[in-house]
Amino acid sequence: MNEVTQFWENRSLKFGARIEGVLLKSVPENINKYLSSWMLEQVEGMIKKESDFKVLDIGCGYGRLSGPLVNSFPGIKVFGVDIAQNYVDLYNKNLSPAGKACRADSRDLPFKDNFFDAVFVVTALMYLPTKDDQSKAISEMLRVLKPGGKFVVVERSSLGYEIFTLGGIIGKLRGKKNLEIPAVSFDPKYLSAVIGKYGARVESLRGIPLFTIMFQVILVLSLINANIGGIFLNLIKLADQQLSKFYFPSLYISYTGEKNG
Ligand SMILES: C[S@@+](CC[C@H](N)C(=O)[O-])C[C@H]1O[C@@H](n2cnc3c(N)ncnc32)[C@H](O)[C@@H]1O
Repeated sequence: MNEVTQFWENRSLKFGARIEGVLLKSVPENINKYLSSWMLEQVEGMIKKESDFKVLDIGCGYGRLSGPLVNSFPGIKVFGVDIAQNYVDLYNKNLSPAGKACRADSRDLPFKDNFFDAVFVVTALMYLPTKDDQSKAISEMLRVLKPGGKFVVVERSSLGYEIFTLGGIIGKLRGKKNLEIPAVSFDPKYLSAVIGKYGARVESLRGIPLFTIMFQVILVLSLINANIGGIFLNLIKLADQQLSKFYFPSLYISYTGEKNG
């Protein structure tokens, strides 16, 4: 078992189907809920309420995003793939029969060409260390997507991550507590170009710039008092909805688009 798989097996055993296993560790829950609902909004935007509408969740974890989808869009079929067997088991336990997952690597998807109506990958490409691996995963994602099918990719952005961690100072302060698996952040021009190279086009980029810039304030307020933190986060959310097209500088960027027909 390689290092990344081992890491995620351990993490899934430690956290189970809990949000901090797949989002930010050691932050108040309202912060992860904020991120989770923003990510879900990105994905929901591409789903059509059609029976037999097939969706693929790549690096699905325990089904944090697939779960709300099968609840909100009865009739669609959601498939998940993940390298961690324990996450696959949790996904199937919680979502079956509406959602079904199997153990597979994003670089080698066990599906036919042009099979899905929509595909998404949320914070999973970032664990592929080389550009070759990232390209392979994107080419696989687009291979299994039908022409005209929609995709959503949500990944960390390089500049946003620098701001979020105050140029690496936060990581140094956290010291050993910060021990995580290495993960990459993406330049949006680079990721959009790779998607373009494999026969799809990015139609919109969105972000959460104010959340990123204000993160340390949100964190302190939420630690002092969850209610005050929650009110502040709601204000940030309203502002970010207005600013979402300004994806610079955002910790995460969502790339949405379509496979060429
Ligand atoms: C940060 S979690 C995100 C999980 C889920 N997408 C979500 O947003 O709740 C990253 C997930 O990607 C999976 N993963 C990492 N590398 C992968 C790969 N090469 N192929 C498939 N899944 C992978 C991990 O096991 C983990 O479940």
